[in-house]
Amino acid sequence: MNPSSVRVLTGDRPTGRLHVGHYFGSLESRVRLQNEGAELYVVIADYQVLTDRDIAANLPGYVEELLLDYLAVGIDPERAVVFTHSAVPALNQLLLPFLSLVSVAELQRNPTVKDEIRHSSQAAVSGLMFTYPVHQAADILFCKANTVPVGRDQLPHLEITRTVARRFNERYARPGEPVFPEPEALLSAAPLLLGTDGGKMSKSRGNAIALAADADETARLIRGAKTDAERHISYEPERRPEVSSLVLLAALCTERDPAELAEEIGGGGAAALKQVVTAAVNERFSPVRARRAELARDRGFLREVLRRGNKEANVVADATLEQVRTVMDCVY
Ligand code: TRP
Repeated sequence: MNPSSVRVLTGDRPTGRLHVGHYFGSLESRVRLQNEGAELYVVIADYQVLTDRDIAANLPGYVEELLLDYLAVGIDPERAVVFTHSAVPALNQLLLPFLSLVSVAELQRNPTVKDEIRHSSQAAVSGLMFTYPVHQAADILFCKANTVPVGRDQLPHLEITRTVARRFNERYARPGEPVFPEPEALLSAAPLLLGTDGGKMSKSRGNAIALAADADETARLIRGAKTDAERHISYEPERRPEVSSLVLLAALCTERDPAELAEEIGGGGAAALKQVVTAAVNERFSPVRARRAELARDRGFLREVLRRGNKEANVVADATLEQVRTVMDCVY
């Protein structure tokens, strides 16, 4: 694929610091695509946070943390467009025609949404919960992205995006002149990292190693990580998920083969494994952490980055909405 014909959109909810799972699952490939010349759009999905949580009061702080993580790992505001949902009205307006293109049954059977509802602490499920995947289609389609680097859990949402694009084109576009591309998911080659408790690594479950964690916090988290009763360390993701995930984390940080690394640790057991993982994580992320700390001192710069990204996103979204209203015959 020619990188300059690749337009990437991806993003995250601003609900806390990003972790090493995000890094190897998505951030690393975003930065690589950016550096290879792809156009990169990154949404700080502040409206998506409203699906489930009542953290609106902390939103500005979370937005800033997320932006810091992005910049620290190498997303370059000179090349990439980083923006927030709430600052781009035309993007949000796309939700209306898009919602008309999907059925309630389709929304209700989305497995990721079902899972989120199951894990939700809220007494009632909001309407936004069922419709946010369509809003996510607007995130992706407002800039006509053709490539979306995401984790597996996001595949149902990407399927909805493709359905919306296809149905919109069928219903409104002139034959041979599609308005929207049907974007492709770009799944990370790295297998999933587990949290330190052996469950899914998650910002909100206290089991994640944040990119921004310091060396001591990292050591403490890894010291407390779940392992198993077998002494000899091996890399067997199916049979020994917790131990294998730790091995994998060290291997990803040091760009080594996990089976080989496990072999080397071998009889050293869990204690040796944890030492290796801690050193690997701290060494790999020490430049990222230093850069993050430096950026955190310049609030004015952070605000400027978002202001510029939002401005650019608005130009693109306005043009797309204009085109949408034109083909829908809604220009009066
Ligand atoms: N749903 C994604 C998450 O929870 C965040 C997100 C919002 C996103 N809009 C997106 C991801 C568009 C990819 C494309 O992490």
